[in-house]
Amino acid sequence: MAHFSNKTVVIVGASAGIGAEVARRFAAQGARLVLAARGADKLAAFAESLRTTGTQVLAISMDLGSDADCRRLIDETVATFGGFDILICNAALHHRGSVESNDADDLAMMVHVNLRAPILLTRLALPHLRSRGGGTVVQVASLAGCVPTPGSATYSATKFGLRAFARALDDELRGSGIRIKVVSPGPVDTGFILDDLDRVTDLTLSQPMSTASEVAAAIVDLSSNDRFERKMPWQSGLLTTLGYIAPFVGRVVRPLLERKGRAARERLRERLAKPLR
Ligand SMILES: NC(=O)c1ccc[n+]([C@@H]2O[C@H](COP(=O)([O-])OP(=O)(O)OC[C@H]3O[C@@H](n4cnc5c(N)ncnc54)[C@H](OP(=O)(O)O)[C@@H]3O)[C@@H](O)[C@H]2O)c1
Repeated sequence: MAHFSNKTVVIVGASAGIGAEVARRFAAQGARLVLAARGADKLAAFAESLRTTGTQVLAISMDLGSDADCRRLIDETVATFGGFDILICNAALHHRGSVESNDADDLAMMVHVNLRAPILLTRLALPHLRSRGGGTVVQVASLAGCVPTPGSATYSATKFGLRAFARALDDELRGSGIRIKVVSPGPVDTGFILDDLDRVTDLTLSQPMSTASEVAAAIVDLSSNDRFERKMPWQSGLLTTLGYIAPFVGRVVRPLLERKGRAARERLRERLAKPLR
């Protein structure tokens, strides 16, 4: 099971949802962890819970909206562990709704957090990965980065950009031992979507929902195999490819999918309204 022993993994957006599951999986396979997120208390409590299982953990409170914080994350990681082998760029910001209903500064910050920050972190990581003789960066994108998504236009643009950056850089680095990968999920059962359910588009909710654990498993697998990207679930991945190359077909099936999405929203509302046992 100790597939990642002697590896150091930096996870940005590690205190909840997909990132926390990724941390648990790497910890179970022997990795040293650097966990990053904004909320210091939640992060510290999560780091402590992993330490009790014997994992070496450094917790760094930081905000992807700050370039200085991104630099500090890499510097403190190198100062503590001497370097790192895997970087998971997982956190993102999503202001939902039409472009005109959103504040201009909020849209600009979404580009900052979702695209500028992972590019900056990846660039800062490269010399350290080279000095280890190789390594992997996994960018967590979205199926909204595979087909243009009305109601999430800027978010969709940042995730398209992230996938393009990853593909181009992975080619640039061919032969270096450094791989840049992408995981592109549809809706995932986390606070990212459930805490904002009323504003999530019907189209998004029409797709089968993955669990954070399923997406985390794909991220960990991708860190050590040859594949470039996982779109998940694969059926939704196929649908987004079709919608991208044939927008006309996408417009025809859209009303059907939106009806399915409205039914899924009602089921989710009922589930969330039930008290936890
Ligand atoms: N859930 C979905 O339906 C879905 C679908 C497709 C793609 N994705 C992608 O999956 C990734 C993870 O989503 P998730 O569902 O796991 O989200 P989540 O449950 O909301 O968790 C987000 C994590 O990122 C941290 N974070 C948020 N903003 C940050 C910032 N500015 N700087 C540093 N850390 C920050 C959060 O902690 P703090 O709040 O304390 O900072 C938390 O640890 C995102 O890239 C998202 O775009 C999600």
